[in-house]
Amino acid sequence: MNILAIIGTPTKDHGLTWRAVQALQQSLQRHGAAEVEYLYLEDAGLTSCQGYLTCIKHGEARCPFSAAVGAVLARMERADAVIFASPVHIFNVSALMKTLFDLLVFQMHRPSFFGKPAVVVTVGAGAGMGKVLRYMQSTVGNWGFEVAGKLGVHGGLLDDPRYAPKLAKAADKVAAALLRQIADGRPRKPGMADLINFRVWRAVVRRTAEASPYDWEHWQSSGWLQQNYYYATPVNPLANLFAALIERMINRAISRASVKPLT
Ligand SMILES: Cc1cc2nc3c(=O)[nH]c(=O)nc-3n(C[C@H](O)[C@H](O)[C@H](O)COP(=O)(O)O)c2cc1C
Repeated sequence: MNILAIIGTPTKDHGLTWRAVQALQQSLQRHGAAEVEYLYLEDAGLTSCQGYLTCIKHGEARCPFSAAVGAVLARMERADAVIFASPVHIFNVSALMKTLFDLLVFQMHRPSFFGKPAVVVTVGAGAGMGKVLRYMQSTVGNWGFEVAGKLGVHGGLLDDPRYAPKLAKAADKVAAALLRQIADGRPRKPGMADLINFRVWRAVVRRTAEASPYDWEHWQSSGWLQQNYYYATPVNPLANLFAALIERMINRAISRASVKPLT
């Protein structure tokens, strides 16, 4: 079993995020899992996304940074599960993790990790951990990952012996959930939010078909323009009807430009 930990802090293996992932690794090993492989974003040679959306319009191979991004992506693809770990930096993920997310923006349009288990981990001084965990969960969830668990760690307490058993208990819970998900391997049955999300992306892809031919072609050849969801799965008919209604409303709002600026 190959579990990849993506460490999104410049402190690499000297910092608290690494220590939190180590706690999770120990739990995984207690549950019989094999080694965790570490990928330090600080060493991955990632450059800020230049914002031209080339990956969406013409394919990720055309991104000027495709060599570096592709290397990270290939390791994620090879892994049986991925741990995404970032410290809290100003109530958000670190710039390193955000750079990775930005460079993988095409995954929001063309997700490919369906059913692959993931865990999200953050370490903070005490504020913003929940927000960061939810943000990471939603981002990688949009790429198709099954987020089996979240682990938020209070960095300042890592050396406190009263905190250690609490962390071990939480890490055990997350590790067990991750291993269950790896054994299961199935992508989830989509809920209402997933169905709506799918339809929203479809509205975007339809709207930008001319400007983003690669995106359009991918949706067309994948059959996603005709399906209820990315993959064959039972969907709740009422939830599906509601999602279809939302898609129609979005398409109408786009064609009439009837949305207002936010104030
Ligand atoms: C630029 C920066 C911003 C930070 N912002 C927050 C924050 O908003 N909330 C918080 O609880 N901790 C914040 N911290 C503290 C870090 O989350 C904490 O030191 C974390 O353990 C660092 O992880 P590392 O040692 O793996 O790099 C910040 C630290 C830095 C360097």
